[in-house]
Amino acid sequence: MLQQQYHEKFGSVGEGYPTGWFQIAWSDDVGPGEVKPLHYFDQDLVVFRTESGKVAVLNAHCLHMGGHLAFGGSRSPRRSGSVVGECIECPWHGWQWDTNGCNALIPYSKRPNSAQRIPSWPVREIYGMILLWHDQAGSAPGWEPRQIPEFESDDYHPVDPHGARQVWRDRHVQPQFVAENHVDIAHVKFVHGAEDVAYDAHVEVDGPCVLSSWKILYSTNRRGGEGERQPIEGTFRGEIWGVGIIINRMYGIRDNLNLIGVTPINPEHSDIFMTNIVMKGSPDEVEPDVIGKKMLHNQLDELESDLPTWENMRFVPRPPYPPEESSAFRKLRAHLRQFYPG
Ligand code: FES
Ligand SMILES: [Fe+2]
Repeated sequence: MLQQQYHEKFGSVGEGYPTGWFQIAWSDDVGPGEVKPLHYFDQDLVVFRTESGKVAVLNAHCLHMGGHLAFGGSRSPRRSGSVVGECIECPWHGWQWDTNGCNALIPYSKRPNSAQRIPSWPVREIYGMILLWHDQAGSAPGWEPRQIPEFESDDYHPVDPHGARQVWRDRHVQPQFVAENHVDIAHVKFVHGAEDVAYDAHVEVDGPCVLSSWKILYSTNRRGGEGERQPIEGTFRGEIWGVGIIINRMYGIRDNLNLIGVTPINPEHSDIFMTNIVMKGSPDEVEPDVIGKKMLHNQLDELESDLPTWENMRFVPRPPYPPEESSAFRKLRAHLRQFYPG
């Protein structure tokens, strides 16, 4: 496919999968000794957690004779895919591979084959999420995930057990679409029911991240609740890491934060992970009150509101921007361009 057609059909500012950190799971999806198959960036992968608690991602196929590390083997008493100590054991002939993908044991041979190494992927665990570094060229991470003070703050309810999270699997969505929400102020009135928005978004590049903010006017019962509509002034602050990790902060009724991870499965489809936390209504609040719960679940609804457009839109490489949105969009797209290999 010609490069231009690729861009227009699949919706990116550049060719290929972007470089950066991408969410692949929540930490509790992969307990000690667990093995799970994954498929991202058009590749079969396997994630496992060793008995000491270290999480690792390797290409899925064993270098001995090509067995998939997460499928097969004796049906009893073992399940498919096994962890033995700090290694993953291939279900086919029991070769063991360490978290770097190095062959550590051949059970019927005197020594391991140290020349054999399954490609491994850099991973980090932050705030109960597992992130994977993707770079088509195979380079080591060029930057580290940042701190998110709200996840560490006693002023916020912890994600577990008082946050909200959801994954939308295999959606016709690319990370670029979700990242662009941060400067797409005009859609906030039409899609998210804001009363009014200020078009002077502040957009700032900070290393591999983009920070954005704007003012928004919404009302207490915009989704059809009882009683009078009370206008409330709020502020939105966005933070995008590379292309795939998107953090939204909303200040107004009750401060809340959501982190969205958009991870490509293939050129057209992605998994979308969302993790939401909300500020406590008072310092001694044990669990979110009615307002807090509403804020947590509203954010899931807001993402659902964007999905039909994302899943059916066609990327426009050079939109006819009016002056009100031109500078923010141009700045964001120029920044995101660097993460695509082509
Ligand atoms: S195919 Fe994996 S040990 Fe033989
Ligand atoms: Fe949106």
